[in-house]
Amino acid sequence: MSPVTLKKGKTKKAPTRKSSKTRRAAATSTNNEKPKLYASLVVQLLSLLKGEHDFIANAANFSALLFSSLPNVNWAGFYFLQDDELVLGPFQGNPACVRIPLGKGVCGVAAERCETIIVPNVHEFPGHIACDVASNSEIVVPLFDGERLLGVLDLDSTTIGRFDDQDAEGLNELVTVFVAHEEHIE
Ligand code: SME
Repeated sequence: MSPVTLKKGKTKKAPTRKSSKTRRAAATSTNNEKPKLYASLVVQLLSLLKGEHDFIANAANFSALLFSSLPNVNWAGFYFLQDDELVLGPFQGNPACVRIPLGKGVCGVAAERCETIIVPNVHEFPGHIACDVASNSEIVVPLFDGERLLGVLDLDSTTIGRFDDQDAEGLNELVTVFVAHEEHIE
């Protein structure tokens, strides 16, 4: 097989074609990676929450679990709804803006629409609030107690396109587990 020329003076061996069985196995293992990680995070979160019902303490440990376990995340934490604005809650990462009005920034828009928002490139999101200039992508997941909006979970990454539907699904499951555990949310 002939080599592929990359740059003058440098060559790279052309990739060998894998059998269709190998390709399928590789694709499956890649696709399963995130769901597996999130499934293990559900188990770890349940273990962290066990026997403890202090909402702030549990939210703090939840954000620490996400920050320490998810690759390429430079901020993970909560904003909780107070009247018509989101107020900073427990988080891991650089200091962040404290108050975000509903409808402003990625967090405020996700809270207003009551939906998960994935932003592949925050520099292309109109009104994005840059708490950490290093952040390039973001996902915001709303938290509900039944129908009532409690706030949002926000994750940032320095990697463009870091978050996808598998992250949205995994994080939504985690926040559902988290809120279901909190019996006395005011
Ligand atoms: N970027 C968010 C603000 C919060 S920080 O990322 C921690 C936004 O646009 O709402």
